[in-house]
Amino acid sequence: MYRYDEFDQQFVQARVEQFRDQVRRRLAGELTEEQFRPLRLMNGVYLQLHAYMLRIAIPYGTLNARQLRTLARIGRVYDKGYGHFTTRQNLQFNWPALKDVPDILTELAAVEMHAIQTSGNCIRNVTADHFAGAAADEIADPRPYAEILRQWSSLHPEFSFLPRKFKVAISGARHDRAAIRVHDIGLQIVRNAAGELGFEVFVGGGLGRTPFTAWHLRDFLPEEDLLAYCEAILRVYNLYGRRDNKYKARIKILMHEAGLDTVRAQVEEEFERIRDGVLKLPHGDIERIAAYFAPPAFADLPAESAAERSARAADPVFAAWADANTHPHRVPGYASVTISLKPVGGIPGDATSDQMDLVADLADAYGFGEIRVSHMQNLILAHVKRDDLPALHAKLLAAGLATPNAGLVTDIIACPGLDYCALANARSIPVAQAISERFGSAARQAEIGPLAIKISGCINACGHHHVGHIGILGVDKKGEEFYQITIGGSADETASLGDITGRGFSTHEVVGAVETIVDTYLAERTGPEETFLAAYRRLGLKPFKEALYGQA
Ligand code: HEM
Ligand code: SF4
Repeated sequence: MYRYDEFDQQFVQARVEQFRDQVRRRLAGELTEEQFRPLRLMNGVYLQLHAYMLRIAIPYGTLNARQLRTLARIGRVYDKGYGHFTTRQNLQFNWPALKDVPDILTELAAVEMHAIQTSGNCIRNVTADHFAGAAADEIADPRPYAEILRQWSSLHPEFSFLPRKFKVAISGARHDRAAIRVHDIGLQIVRNAAGELGFEVFVGGGLGRTPFTAWHLRDFLPEEDLLAYCEAILRVYNLYGRRDNKYKARIKILMHEAGLDTVRAQVEEEFERIRDGVLKLPHGDIERIAAYFAPPAFADLPAESAAERSARAADPVFAAWADANTHPHRVPGYASVTISLKPVGGIPGDATSDQMDLVADLADAYGFGEIRVSHMQNLILAHVKRDDLPALHAKLLAAGLATPNAGLVTDIIACPGLDYCALANARSIPVAQAISERFGSAARQAEIGPLAIKISGCINACGHHHVGHIGILGVDKKGEEFYQITIGGSADETASLGDITGRGFSTHEVVGAVETIVDTYLAERTGPEETFLAAYRRLGLKPFKEALYGQA
């Protein structure tokens, strides 16, 4: 993976010392909270409902074991013994004391990590497919490009004060596991007819109060033009984005108001002007970065593993886990493994420091020391020998990390909601926990099949509810928590926004409502091979609405 050079290291260290002095001045009363606010946000420090929160960047969700152990240690020493992995592949600590944050950042810098640009109106963490470099369906590893984008965007002087935050995601496989169509820029790696690598470019996707799936800006962008084209998009956005109204400031609103053709023409014009300048990416530069992501030393193995086969036959618990939580690898004899951070009844995305340490050990033992964070708030070991799956499973089981539910009904995304967030209208976590308990049985989950439930505690949509197969949005109704349900959203290559079913449900009704929706699907589907989303797309809202609210 990418290694900092001397410049990177000195730079990050200098930023830590600068922030240490700012914190000192805040604690000494020399800065008011209001004066301190922009300074802390530039270092990933938010003020939540009860305490500060620190958001740490995990570029394209890739970590090494040493970095994960550092995160575990920080959780143990400076927080309450756990951390929270987010939908943008970052990690958040919910309870750091402000006085400790400079020390935390020092520890992070020692392992080439930081919290810069995890907040503010700048280009945020660039995210990527969590199976990058491993997936059988991959065209090319997206991480070298993500790293190039990261280097270009980190403290880019022109783009440090955009109208609003800006999120980029990149997928190297046709099946989109990075939700690129709900990002400000979504990049899909493709090959053209001549076999050259390039990008299909999407722009203006986003959730929040005015959700949009992205517009298709370009079919094929040559590799060498990646930065110039992104720069052109950002320039147009920076110039024309609505700075007058925070709620209309994202690029999705510019796209919506100005129209695709206008924006495309402006971007292309700017691109033509700058494409042959300093931002041109010679192939050598790409190769230099790609070398950091060179595949590990895979063994020469048969595609099938006898050890896995006999464990499957002997142990149904292993078989269920292997079915749900392993993913095809491009190299014979290997698999990618999802380590679910969604135990039944648990808090989605939370991992204790002990669990992080264990995952780091397992990554060293079975996964070339590499860990991924998925935007589904799970951890991944990308390259595991199929022969090692039974042993890995046994160790995960002992640590409570073997929940066999990747992609199933209890693999719920939930934002922090009213348990932490100052903007929330309703709680998200307890709703996720209650749904997870209701559907906890492994047999029932397997029967239901792939189903993405996503919950947000307010219209900002941090829990991606619009693109949940079942989305749940917390709303405040005269001081009471209510939940509005949407159905049919999706964040993959068939991205769509869910349809609102009708009036919301109270806290005690909402789990029952989800169950009614699931039961309706089970009753109406053509067979187990028809997924919830496919069935919804065939049936439409009507039968679900009738089941929820009775005949109109
Ligand atoms: C301190 C707590 C948080 C605050 C104050 C906050 C605030 C916001 C706001 C204001 C938006 C709307 C942005 C817009 O429409 O322009 C938003 C969206 C979002 N937030 Fe958060 N958030 C918080 C925590 C989180 C957490 C914990 C996550 C990840 C687990 C997260 C991930 C996201 C995502 C993915 C979006 C959707 C952005 C989009 O596609 O437009 N946020 N957040
Ligand atoms: S969706 Fe709303 S409640 Fe949930 S974290 Fe985002 S801002 Fe907070």
